[in-house]
Amino acid sequence: MKIAMIGTGYVGLVTGTCFADSGNEVACVDIDETKIARLREGKVPIYEPGLTELVIRNSESGRLTFTTDLKAAVSSSRIIYLAVGTPPAADGSADLTALKGVVDAMAPHLTADAIVVTKSTVPVGTNQFIYERLEELLGRQVDVASNPEFLKEGAAIDDFMKPDRVVVGVRRPEVGEVLAELYRPFLRTDHPFLTMSPQSAELTKYVANALLSTKISFINEMANLCEHMGGDINDVRRGIGHDSRIGFAFLFPGVGYGGSCFPKDVRALASMARDQGLNPRIMDAVDEVNQHQKTILVSKIDQHFKTDIAGKRFAIWGLAFKPQTDDIREAPALTLIDYLLENGALPQVHDPEASENIRAIYGSKLIYCESAMDALNGADALAINTEWKAYHNPNFEEMRSRMNGHIVFDGRNLYEPEKMVERGFSYHSIGRPA
Ligand code: UGA
Repeated sequence: MKIAMIGTGYVGLVTGTCFADSGNEVACVDIDETKIARLREGKVPIYEPGLTELVIRNSESGRLTFTTDLKAAVSSSRIIYLAVGTPPAADGSADLTALKGVVDAMAPHLTADAIVVTKSTVPVGTNQFIYERLEELLGRQVDVASNPEFLKEGAAIDDFMKPDRVVVGVRRPEVGEVLAELYRPFLRTDHPFLTMSPQSAELTKYVANALLSTKISFINEMANLCEHMGGDINDVRRGIGHDSRIGFAFLFPGVGYGGSCFPKDVRALASMARDQGLNPRIMDAVDEVNQHQKTILVSKIDQHFKTDIAGKRFAIWGLAFKPQTDDIREAPALTLIDYLLENGALPQVHDPEASENIRAIYGSKLIYCESAMDALNGADALAINTEWKAYHNPNFEEMRSRMNGHIVFDGRNLYEPEKMVERGFSYHSIGRPA
């Protein structure tokens, strides 16, 4: 199958590369010439485990190509995937300027049997908008499908190659059959290919992210309750998780969810509901609880130091919004860094992948450390934001010897509270006894 993938951001690049890997000819299109030139040399602009190898392998085989020539890619493809960015506008709704621009630009080059597929996360009704716009521009009906993606950063290749399910929204069953063919190599027994209306497919994406975000805000609220009532959220989590109706997934308390998806999608869904005259109480609460949770380490630091942190050195472990990514969008670490800087403290930061992205924001205001241990030198306290594997089993003796004050604010519950006390630390975590 010949595929044009418009937009070589995170979603487009992973999807295009994986489709090429299963034998399709994929032309990845972007307006950014520098990015395309670098991709042609096998240089991937994002950190995603396994992606660079896959890009190189499929480029060498000739199945994966990179171009700025939209016309050539669209006119020679049966399937045109739209994977351009849909960043949040000021009111929380998705900004569709780039998507609409691509629809207009590609329209004249679509072949008679082209299928246009939206992969970007778009508000409900966008598929219908594209369908009507193409009809208006071309004077004929073009097949437009919705195929939301459920990839997690850091595990994207695996998620794509072994999806729990594939969802497509179509108007004609024949279009569903073509897309099913495309996904057949990736579907395992019991992992379905689900066909539904475009509206339902668009909603599925938002509802999935909204429910996952709700689970996180819920457990964070319960963790704070545990702390105040003398309980341990880890025990409570185990206590509820064994109920098969509840389960364990996405119920880890922490410093709040970040990234380019959950915060944006929760707000976008709320904004859609408001547009319909509805009151999205749960979504608003999920967002509000999360905003509050991002300040949880700030409150603990404030409480411990009685707001007097000027001149103090704070080691920060983990800047990315989660491990296995260099992404710092909506990362809770930003909230903490801002607070420390505003109050005259000195952050000494470490992250295996995200330091350069943080440097682009804060420049010389922070001390960037090569190793996690270096970040502890002379530090009055350590704050942990991201649960990178490397932070799970540190040499506690060495930590103590490097630190000035032996205080740990652990936003990811990496260590056992009793053991930390035995090791001589004042240890503060989320939803567990101090
Ligand atoms: C999320 C969804 O998991 C994907 O299915 C979806 O495709 C993607 O958004 C998207 O819409 O593109 P992602 O943002 O990459 O993926 O990251 P997650 O692994 O889901 O984590 C999101 C945030 O939740 C992180 O900040 C993480 O630390 C936090 N989290 C997750 C918790 O605080 N507790 C948990 O138990 C789980």
